[in-house]
Amino acid sequence: MATSLQTLTSNFAAPTDWRAPLIQEVRRGLARRPLSLAPWLLYDGAGSRLFDRITTLPEYYPTRTERAILTRNVNSILAAVLPRASQPLRIIELGAGSADKTGILLDAALRAKAGVHYRPLDVSAEALHAARRSIERLYPGVRVEPSVVNYVTNPPRLQPFPGNTLVLYLGSSIANFPPEEARAILRNASSQMRPRDAFLLGVDLVKDESTLVAAYDDRAGVTAAFNLNVLHRLNRELGADFDVDGFRHRAEWNAGKSRIEMHLESTRDQQASIPAAAMQLHIVKGETIHTESSYKFTDGSVKSLLQDAGLALSRLWKDEAGRYAVALAYPETIRS
Ligand code: AVJ
Repeated sequence: MATSLQTLTSNFAAPTDWRAPLIQEVRRGLARRPLSLAPWLLYDGAGSRLFDRITTLPEYYPTRTERAILTRNVNSILAAVLPRASQPLRIIELGAGSADKTGILLDAALRAKAGVHYRPLDVSAEALHAARRSIERLYPGVRVEPSVVNYVTNPPRLQPFPGNTLVLYLGSSIANFPPEEARAILRNASSQMRPRDAFLLGVDLVKDESTLVAAYDDRAGVTAAFNLNVLHRLNRELGADFDVDGFRHRAEWNAGKSRIEMHLESTRDQQASIPAAAMQLHIVKGETIHTESSYKFTDGSVKSLLQDAGLALSRLWKDEAGRYAVALAYPETIRS
């Protein structure tokens, strides 16, 4: 067979290597066919900067559409969790990142004269630091308590709180997870929420294929650079020797699984060595490395995802073109 993989016995990384999670993922994803790498690999420093540029591209509608939906409906959203003005409100945000859209909700909550506690959770300490600084500057009344945590591998525990809690999971971040993992993330939150707490979920919706594909294959090539950066990252951090010019970015709509897939396609037979993972990879022309899935939803599939996670859909707000949705849900009081 032309595609084969050799595992070398020398040059294993020490167990305390800061690159251990990266090495482990490379050894998982590139040691089997079809080749794949987990989407979190896309977000090193360079990748995070490229993603920020993606959110401003004309083809990438999700970020600006979600912001518009939140701005337009912020009062209804808050009314759902602020039954009495005297109560403090806690906002917990999963994967908060730079939290720039959260300001819309924090601002409205302060104007409703609620005491506001904001707990952004993210894997990136750098992003949380920036989020805290900008929120403390723009909304000095908000008490900010960030936590550096991976909410997937370490599901957060909600501490007791004297008021209602609004859990935010925005930016279509849930899209990277296959249905079972998506349910587990939501269920961890719902199982700790009280009846007057609420969950706010941002999801991208199924639409015509050309719009979807364009959002992940923009004309300026920023998404291509974002995807190809994974190989640069392996070269930089693991001493690999991928010839990045021998790969091209591919974005495809997988209708059966209702997801956009990003792949890196090899444009020729080639090999690469990845010293820190003690691997030698042979890859043939046309073979791809699957780097990301982005699941797209319908009204029905959002509702059942929430329901399967113990959350009852209460409201679903969309933009006029019906491209994106923000769902508000309450914990089910009766769980099986
Ligand atoms: C950050 C997962 C929401 O799926 O739209 C954007 C990531 N990848 N362009 C998405 C992404 C390529 C984004 N999420």
